[in-house]
Amino acid sequence: MSGPTIEFWQSHFDAGRTPWDRGEANRRLVGWLADGELVPCRIAVPGCGSGHEVVRLAQAGFDVTALDYAPAAVARTRANLAAAGAAATVVEADVLAWSPAAPFDAIYEQTCLCALHPDHWVAYARRLCAWLRPGGRMFALFMQVARPGAASGLVEGPPYHCDINAMRALLDASAWTWPKPPYERVPHPMGLAEIAAVIARR
Ligand SMILES: C[S@@+](CC[C@H](N)C(=O)[O-])C[C@H]1O[C@@H](n2cnc3c(N)ncnc32)[C@H](O)[C@@H]1O
Repeated sequence: MSGPTIEFWQSHFDAGRTPWDRGEANRRLVGWLADGELVPCRIAVPGCGSGHEVVRLAQAGFDVTALDYAPAAVARTRANLAAAGAAATVVEADVLAWSPAAPFDAIYEQTCLCALHPDHWVAYARRLCAWLRPGGRMFALFMQVARPGAASGLVEGPPYHCDINAMRALLDASAWTWPKPPYERVPHPMGLAEIAAVIARR
């Protein structure tokens, strides 16, 4: 299998090397909650990491299913939920292999895609589509990576650049409805940025 493994991510958590971790919920999610764009529903959070967004969604009354295949991420998310007195379903599973018992109303996709080798993007996109009910929406934060080598395809590891045109081709108009650009850029703790977009499954 191409790209990072469970051991890769687990070793980052074990070493406390988690530069992507904001230590709190993404302010874009907080905004979507505050302005009523995202209201309580059944929602999936793939690649949840330490689970700050999982906690925020659970506190806001969502029925949350969080997924991560690194045992340390699952443990952190459960610990953060317990510390906040909040509840969610936290599943230790590979997003490329897992299927829900019933479709979700929404997905919060924050930098799980960029953690997967692009060889797996088409398979992951198919799963995201299958996880959502028709008319369900994906609240996405697409990682923008500007670094030497990225443009020539020489970058070996994550985060993999989620070029917005590549995202529109991956999550294409036959299955998804995109808002018109421009798209908001959200600062990322690694000195990078995410592009925010809410896209609806047809
Ligand atoms: C860059 S971190 C982002 C974590 C969190 N979304 C955040 O923004 O703080 C990527 C996360 O995805 C998880 N991950 C990567 N590949 C995965 C896979 N195939 N299945 C499940 N989780 C995966 C990693 O274990 C890690 O926790």
